[in-house]
Amino acid sequence: MSSTPSVVLFLAWITTDVHSEKILDRLRDSTVVLSPDHVEDPITIITWRYKTHLAADWNGQKAPFSRIFKDGCSLNTETGELTINSVRLEDGGVYTTQINNKTQTAVKLQVFSPVPKPNITLSCNPEETQCTLSCTFNRTDDLGEVHIFWILDDKLKKEGKELNITKETKELMFICSLENSVSSGNSSELQNPLFFKNEDVLYLVFFALYTSLLFVVGLIIIHQSKKNSSFHLFSKSVFIF
Ligand SMILES: *[C@@H]1O[C@H](CO)[C@@H](O)[C@H](O)[C@H]1NC(C)=O
Ligand SMILES: *[C@@H]1O[C@H](CO)[C@@H](O)[C@H](O)[C@H]1NC(C)=O
Ligand SMILES: *[C@@H]1O[C@H](CO)[C@@H](O)[C@H](O)[C@H]1NC(C)=O
Ligand SMILES: *[C@@H]1O[C@H](CO)[C@@H](O)[C@H](O)[C@H]1NC(C)=O
Ligand SMILES: *[C@@H]1O[C@H](CO)[C@@H](O)[C@H](O)[C@H]1NC(C)=O
Repeated sequence: MSSTPSVVLFLAWITTDVHSEKILDRLRDSTVVLSPDHVEDPITIITWRYKTHLAADWNGQKAPFSRIFKDGCSLNTETGELTINSVRLEDGGVYTTQINNKTQTAVKLQVFSPVPKPNITLSCNPEETQCTLSCTFNRTDDLGEVHIFWILDDKLKKEGKELNITKETKELMFICSLENSVSSGNSSELQNPLFFKNEDVLYLVFFALYTSLLFVVGLIIIHQSKKNSSFHLFSKSVFIF
């Protein structure tokens, strides 16, 4: 019974914490601008903290000073913005700032690497009626959460690391695609291995039918031309072929 108020309190704490922090996802090696949310003119004092360290400090007189980033960052004393050039994975974390002694909304910076180009590995049953396509890539922590999906014939999308196809699958082309919060990447295209088998058979049947038709028609023409002794008709018919 007595646990209810503390649960409510706990939930309230989580909610306010989420609200008092902006989350910023950025690509490794990009330029990141951290902005205070509401500043009043004129700005006389700026402090930026990274975790518990002082990252940048300005008191209206001397040139801004930065202990952690040194040349890697700059402070705009008119807007209070902190710019980090070529951000590294290890620069991720919570940044807090005070402008004119007023605490601003904290920024949680999350830095990720771009997703790699994935590979498709194929395994089919011995009868070659069903195949499983797997999307493989080197999953590392610096990618964050990776969303894996398949693109079938450039339009249909299917979620998941694996895609099963059968002889009934109509699509001809498959791409595996990866996405994290800062980038996306496609595999090379894979042609439907089952469909192209069917196509080969169909093509052979067509070719066989076509040549036998030609043969029969040819025989008829030769027969006719012998009967009529009309060489002219014969050569004209051959020309049409
Ligand atoms: C900010 O705080 C410092 C020390 O607490 C104080 O000396 C200073 O006057 C304050 N400045 C402003 C602009 O409020
Ligand atoms: C994907 O394929 C390429 C080329 O065959 C290979 O160099 C790479 O190591 C493969 N990556 C994975 C994660 O299997
Ligand atoms: C996967 O990543 C690890 C660590 O970055 C690396 O040592 C390994 O060689 C990678 N494997 C492939 C197949 O790229
Ligand atoms: C694909 O087929 C394999 C083998 O039949 C099965 O184990 C697997 O669960 C299937 N995967 C999906 C995503 O349907
Ligand atoms: C992946 O392929 C799809 C379909 O062809 C295309 O729309 C998308 O832009 C591609 N993404 C990348 C990162 O190349």
